[in-house]
Amino acid sequence: MNEQSDISAALIKALRDARHVCILTGAGVSAESGVPTFRDAQDGLWAKYKPQELATPEAFIKDPALIWRWYRWRRDLVAEANPNPGHYAIAELEQRMPRLTLVTQNVDGLHQRAGSKHVIEFHGNLFDDRCFSDRTLHTADDSLDVPTCPDCGDYLRPGVVWFGEAIPESALNDACAATTDCDVFLSIGTSSLVYPAAGLTDLASENGACVVEINPIPTTHSARFDFAIAGNAGLVLPELLESLAP
Ligand code: APR
Repeated sequence: MNEQSDISAALIKALRDARHVCILTGAGVSAESGVPTFRDAQDGLWAKYKPQELATPEAFIKDPALIWRWYRWRRDLVAEANPNPGHYAIAELEQRMPRLTLVTQNVDGLHQRAGSKHVIEFHGNLFDDRCFSDRTLHTADDSLDVPTCPDCGDYLRPGVVWFGEAIPESALNDACAATTDCDVFLSIGTSSLVYPAAGLTDLASENGACVVEINPIPTTHSARFDFAIAGNAGLVLPELLESLAP
C-alpha cells in the first residue's frame, strides 16, 4: 500500500486538542515485525494447531510439554523480531502528548523495546514464568521440558493470560480508568473479538471520547468508530505523527 492514508482533518484536530490519549494495540501492530497474528494460520511445525486451542489452561493441563514447546518457539520468534515503525510512532506520540496511556494485548514486549515507557500489559508477558498454582514469578529451568516451581513443585507456565482467564486486576483497573478519562481512544491492529479488551472501545465512546480504528481490514466493530482508517499500523502511525507536527 503506497498511497497516503485517509487521515481526516477532524481527527488531527481531536488529537491536537487531546489532554489524554489512550491507545489499545493488538497483534496487528506486531505483524509488520514478523510476529504472526493470533487469527492467522500458523506456519510449519505448528500449522496443524490453532493458537486458540493451545492458549488455554485446559490445553496446558492436558499436555504441558506441548504447550511449553509452543511458547519456547514463540519466544525464539519474538526474540529475533524488532519493533517496526508503528511501535516507534506510538513511543514518539507518548513524548508529544500531554498524557498517553498504552494498553496492549500483545505479550511480545516490542512496545517497550521501541521506547514506550508506560505500557499496561493486558494479557501478560511472553517471557515471564509463573507458578501454575499461585502465579508467583520465577525463572524457569529451560533444560526441563516442563519446568517446576522452586517453592511448591507445581508446574511453571508462561506468564500470559490464556482464553477463559481473568485479566490481572491492576491492568484491568488501570486500563478502564484511562479509557474512561481519555479524549481520544485509538484501537490499533486488533480484531476486537476478545473481551474484555474489545469492550474498552465502547467504554471510551460512552464516556465521550473520539474513538478511532486503524486496521487494514474492517472489523465487526468498525461501524462504531468515529474514524476507521484502513491501513497498516506501520504506515498509518508515522503519517499520523507527521500530520501532528506543528
Ligand atoms: N496493521 C494493523 N492491523 C493489522 C495489520 C497491520 N499491519 N496486520 C493485521 N492487522 C489486523 C488484522 O486485520 C486483525 O484485525 O490485526 C488484527 C489481529 O487480530 P488478532 O489476530 O485477533 O489479534 P488480537 O486482536 O490482538 O487478539 C486479541 O486474542 O488470541 C488472543 O490473547 C490473544 O491478545 C490476543 C487476543
